[in-house]
Amino acid sequence: MSASSPSQPRKLFIKTYGCQMNVYDSERMAEALGSEGYVTTDRPDDADMILLNTCHIREKAAEKVYSELGRLRVLKDANPDLKIGIAGCVAQAEGEEIMRRAPVVDLVVGPQSYHRLPAMDRAVRGGAKALDTDFPADDKFDTLKARPKARRAPAAFLTVQEGCDKFCAFCVVPYTRGAEVSRPAAKVLTEARDLVAAGVAELTLLGQNVNAYHGHPGGLAGLVRDLAAIDGLQRIRYTTSHPNDMDAALISAHGDCDKLMPYLHLPVQSGSDRILKAMNRKHTADHYLRLVERIKASRPDLMLSSDFIVGFPGETEADFEATLDLIREVAFGQAYSFKYSTRPGTPAAEKPQLPEEVMADRLARLQALLTQQQRAVQQSMVGRTVGVLFEKPGRIAGQMIGKSDYLHAVYADAPADVIGQVRPVRITTSGPNSLGGVLAG
Ligand code: SAH
Ligand code: SF4
Ligand code: F3S
Repeated sequence: MSASSPSQPRKLFIKTYGCQMNVYDSERMAEALGSEGYVTTDRPDDADMILLNTCHIREKAAEKVYSELGRLRVLKDANPDLKIGIAGCVAQAEGEEIMRRAPVVDLVVGPQSYHRLPAMDRAVRGGAKALDTDFPADDKFDTLKARPKARRAPAAFLTVQEGCDKFCAFCVVPYTRGAEVSRPAAKVLTEARDLVAAGVAELTLLGQNVNAYHGHPGGLAGLVRDLAAIDGLQRIRYTTSHPNDMDAALISAHGDCDKLMPYLHLPVQSGSDRILKAMNRKHTADHYLRLVERIKASRPDLMLSSDFIVGFPGETEADFEATLDLIREVAFGQAYSFKYSTRPGTPAAEKPQLPEEVMADRLARLQALLTQQQRAVQQSMVGRTVGVLFEKPGRIAGQMIGKSDYLHAVYADAPADVIGQVRPVRITTSGPNSLGGVLAG
């Protein structure tokens, strides 16, 4: 604890929105404020500091922040010493405006500046307001301390790359997260070893464009292979990858690196070449399909997942049908789909927008097809024996929950000491969002 810490620990409540990178960042922010004497709480009404770690990707995501701030005003009225901070991508995009419009906010910190939270905390405790949305020259990962040694859950995220240079026409990420930056492999490996020493068996490497990672001479594949050599680390995943950055080395790692799990989130967004071009995705539907063929040739049981946007400006019924065709051809095990949302400052925001009813109708049709595929893939798991990393007890006594190699949630009757272990499970049932099975060894 620092000299400025009070004897009673202060309490920090963090609410996390958005992608897995925000989940990772929230952990690191809690650790950074830990050095200021904070411990985390899961009760906002008990907190001395509330941080909202926000997402700007769609309008709805950003709106949530303002409605949450309305609720937090009540807590602040009850406890004038409560400090409220906004972190993450809304902070980066609209931080100054938030400071002006929402007096309840004491602190605004962008995703690249959160290593400065301890100093910002001292400033707000002294009654000042603090705003930092720089893309600083100092590397936050160098400033942040090593990860705490306390025992951890068996699966953890590890950010290896941040930012994006792709500038898809709809997307705010290049503006909120800045240019692509990779953490040096040596640093990632050190953090990975520390996490494994704390009980982590599965690492998901994170990046807005994780397969553009260049902190290792062998790229992401080189990093994966070095990580695979760590004893005790049993599984490696990565997300999110861009089709144009799937290189031959990474594709072959899927074929011969046992610890690299057979699940790949490879967003395609649309199956129409016209729309892909307008989106500035810089590849065609055929390029994606051929890529999927190559990856599946390397790892035939690979489960694919994707993101889709419906109703991008100019999308016709024929464009939308092309997306359905691509989905039929690939057969996705999992997918996330969204109505196009206009984001200020992005090129697509200038274009005429499609009517809401058209988007809603297309989203419903797309999701019906994706759900059907997802159910079929889940059903096909019944009778198979798959590896499951058990993570926690289920709600029913004696039942444990874990994730399969293919990222399905799996329930099985098992002793509590399976937590943290990968065990073979024979799948016996398929429910809407999970599988059930029995230990097979
Ligand atoms: N870097 C990743 C995705 C980051 S954002 C990639 O390139 O795939 C996660 C998903 O949100 C995107 O894949 C996209 O499907 C969706 N998304 C991004 N901007 C959006 C917008 N303006 N409207 C609707 N969905 C959007
Ligand atoms: Fe956004 Fe495109 Fe970058 Fe993904 S690749 S973060 S969708 S700009
Ligand atoms: Fe959202 Fe920022 Fe992640 S906009 S999806 S929290 S990178």
